[in-house]
Amino acid sequence: MVRVNDNFQKLPGSYLFSTIAKKVNEYQQANPEKGLIRLGIGDVTQPLAPAIIEALHKAVDEMADAKTFHGYAPDLGYEFLRNAIAKNDYADRGCDITADEIFVSDGAKCDSSNIQELFSADCKIAVCDPVYPVYVDSNVMAGRTGTYDQTTEMWSDIVYMPCTMENGFVPEFPKETPDLIYLCLPNNPTGTTVTKSQLQEWVDYANQSGAVIIYDGAYEAYITEKDVAHSIYECEGAKTCAMEIKSFSKNAGFTGVRLGYTVVPKELKRQDVSLHSMWARRHGTKFNGAPYIIQRAGEAVYSEAGKAQLKEQVAYYMKNASVIKTGLLEAGYTVFGGVNAPYIWLKTPKNMTSWEFFDYLLENANVVGTPGSGFGPSGEGYFRLTAFGSYENTVAALERIKKL
Ligand code: MLT
Repeated sequence: MVRVNDNFQKLPGSYLFSTIAKKVNEYQQANPEKGLIRLGIGDVTQPLAPAIIEALHKAVDEMADAKTFHGYAPDLGYEFLRNAIAKNDYADRGCDITADEIFVSDGAKCDSSNIQELFSADCKIAVCDPVYPVYVDSNVMAGRTGTYDQTTEMWSDIVYMPCTMENGFVPEFPKETPDLIYLCLPNNPTGTTVTKSQLQEWVDYANQSGAVIIYDGAYEAYITEKDVAHSIYECEGAKTCAMEIKSFSKNAGFTGVRLGYTVVPKELKRQDVSLHSMWARRHGTKFNGAPYIIQRAGEAVYSEAGKAQLKEQVAYYMKNASVIKTGLLEAGYTVFGGVNAPYIWLKTPKNMTSWEFFDYLLENANVVGTPGSGFGPSGEGYFRLTAFGSYENTVAALERIKKL
């Protein structure tokens, strides 16, 4: 008889943002007169920049003509996009990453959940705690995480690296050496990050121990401080220990368009096997390329007009981050993040649990945020607000919170 993948049964509850959406929809249905302000999931609200819209229109027209029509995209992505990424995201920053080390995909969420397929089932993963839930859940589905303890809310075979107020949200090297290390910097959910020299220590650690770092740089466009690396490949030796996953969602508003990429350097090998060849093989078998139209839109992100327009868009969201951070500080909250990332991470007041504060904020301010404990046990007692709302809504939300 057919047997299902039992690992799925081990997953507690539903995906964090699905649980929140369900709870919020129920509240809205019961209270239709309440005007909710949603600062929960990190979904953008500003329209696509004009340069991107123009590229989309042009590409759509090309698809209407047999002479310029495009079918399946090349496995790794179109040259025009991979060259633009290699130049702008790497060469211009002094990183030696070539276009053929870049794999274009339909988004960073898929890449960050699929990448674990390259590693054996008994590999030990290390994650920051709190953490973007996709890294953990995808490894649970693959049967790599052991058993779940309801009390500690931890998996027996995951190495957790707590990131809390006490250690400045900087992960410490774990006692037990992991095989795979997930790092998301600037960090989702805490909105904090590490300096380039702290990141270099992780690269050195991975090279010495033989671990592989899966580096999620989705929020790189929000970095404002000089001593923060925009890519892990700014660190010496990263090409022999790290893969980097990037998204077009947060820097260019592609959450509903879908585009991302993963860098797998050719030097990156384990047991003498090239991870680049493995990822190329996986891409060829399981993926038929991001749509031509969308890849053209991605190319426009790197045009002079696109870059200027997106700089403004990022500044718009960072102004929201500042409104949230300042407003919360004025209201007496303890607040982190919001300087190099579009997330603000706050301590819940009066020792409320993260979910108690979620309900309190929803019911009393009609503001939706994300409970810190949803990202892992060390997130308990914290709460996340996103700067991706509209400016008007962000200001209104803070006015409501200040009145509580
Ligand atoms: C978040 O809110 O954490 C992000 O929007 C999730 C994502 O990027 O998939």
